[in-house]
Amino acid sequence: MPASRRGSGSVILPSGQTIALHTRTHDEEDLPHATKKTMADHLRRFENLFTLTPQRMRMIVEAFTETLEVGLNKPNQVVPMIPTFVFGWPTGSEKGDFLALDLGGTNLRVCLVTLQGEGKFEITQTKYRLTEEQKQDDGQKLFDFCAECLKTFVDTNSGDGPGQLKPGQILPLGFTFSYPCSQERIDHGELIRWTKGFGAPNTEGRDVAEMFKKSLAKFELPITLTALINDTTGTLVASHYVNPKTKIAVIFGTGCNAAYMEHVKDIGKIKSLGIDEDADMAINCEWGAFDSFEHEHLPRTKYDVVVDEASNKPGEQAFEKLISGRYLGEIFRVVVCELIDEGVLFLGQNTYKLEKPYIIDTAFLSLMESDPTDELLMIIGIFTHFFNIETTLAERQFFRALAKLIGRRAARMSACGIAAIVNKMGYIEEGCAVGADGSLYNKYPMFPERVHEGLVDIFGDKGRNIVTHHAEDGSGVGSAIIAAMTKIRKDAGLYTNV
Ligand code: BGC
Repeated sequence: MPASRRGSGSVILPSGQTIALHTRTHDEEDLPHATKKTMADHLRRFENLFTLTPQRMRMIVEAFTETLEVGLNKPNQVVPMIPTFVFGWPTGSEKGDFLALDLGGTNLRVCLVTLQGEGKFEITQTKYRLTEEQKQDDGQKLFDFCAECLKTFVDTNSGDGPGQLKPGQILPLGFTFSYPCSQERIDHGELIRWTKGFGAPNTEGRDVAEMFKKSLAKFELPITLTALINDTTGTLVASHYVNPKTKIAVIFGTGCNAAYMEHVKDIGKIKSLGIDEDADMAINCEWGAFDSFEHEHLPRTKYDVVVDEASNKPGEQAFEKLISGRYLGEIFRVVVCELIDEGVLFLGQNTYKLEKPYIIDTAFLSLMESDPTDELLMIIGIFTHFFNIETTLAERQFFRALAKLIGRRAARMSACGIAAIVNKMGYIEEGCAVGADGSLYNKYPMFPERVHEGLVDIFGDKGRNIVTHHAEDGSGVGSAIIAAMTKIRKDAGLYTNV
């Protein structure tokens, strides 16, 4: 999703493609485009649809807070509030070599993390891009691919030198699997549902840790799966490791979700496990599922409904579909396509390229919003290069404003989720830091500022007590720390069955 600029006249997209910034060479008025006035009228309509008022935000927060409570107390809820068996915060003295594997929405990452104690670490890593076919192919094959990449990584990084893996060394591994899994213990996880466009059959309802162990055995890897971890939980632990004020972690990337540290006494549904009521445990909220199926609380536009119904999981991940990077570009595309059908945009031009679902990457929205030129040359570049379409200045101004509406709504929705956790834990007076990661948070213009503005709209001035910051690498460092914490806990004989 992120895009970067190269030189003054071009931009490189995550796909590796380069687009040139064009200057206009023809007379804009040659083509029968929408006029400035028409576009301004349309924009007003979309402003009404996509703007979240402070009052509406507070209503969402109220419903969200109740949903979090219910999820903690009853099993199998839509927002599942998953106990992770990560007990409390790291001490900073965790040490040793750990492997971390991260199966994200876009990439597979393998890391060797050396924790050196005193909050210090070293990391070596390799990334592999996942193909669309792999995301839809049989689940066991996906885990075989993970194991195969691990094998290559271990072979490449083995040797007698410093920082290398020693032959014969059995390595503990933290597996960051960023999809909702209900856990009975830390090295177990039954996949509730795929999200972020994954659909690999024969995986939902199964223990993915077990499937992964099967693949490890197939490739004869000297590795013990110590912990199955959600990216948010890894981010929570890693961010606290470097900034102890961190109490909540959020991911705004291809998907979106949050984790926080809860008191065991307040997790009603695990009472029967007999865990010390004074202990703390991280909760993976899986908040992307908020308001799924019933659609009672979130104001969805008809464009959101179209995106949802055409997705591979209609009805599911209702909150995520308004926020995450996987969907924002698609919402924009659906609006543009409606205006084409209504004869407002691009009359007389061939627009078939825009009909392809998901063809507008959320990175395009970032680029449109951050176009620094008066003529909006970046937007000219995007439309001519990718879609072979000429645009007028009025249209480009409309596109930029529409991107802003969609991006701003996503950030304000995100603030509602953070506020619900803050409410639940009573953090507003003392304040807290929120570790945040993901391409939207890191690359989308003004995303953090808009989240903060949303928190002030919800809480008034006290909203300033809640501050997000760029998180430490959760699925690498966080995963290693959790693997280390788990090893220390089990070696000490504490709750060895979970
Ligand atoms: C998944 C979560 C994950 C989030 C961010 C969501 O689609 O359900 O498990 O934490 O994406 O990666």
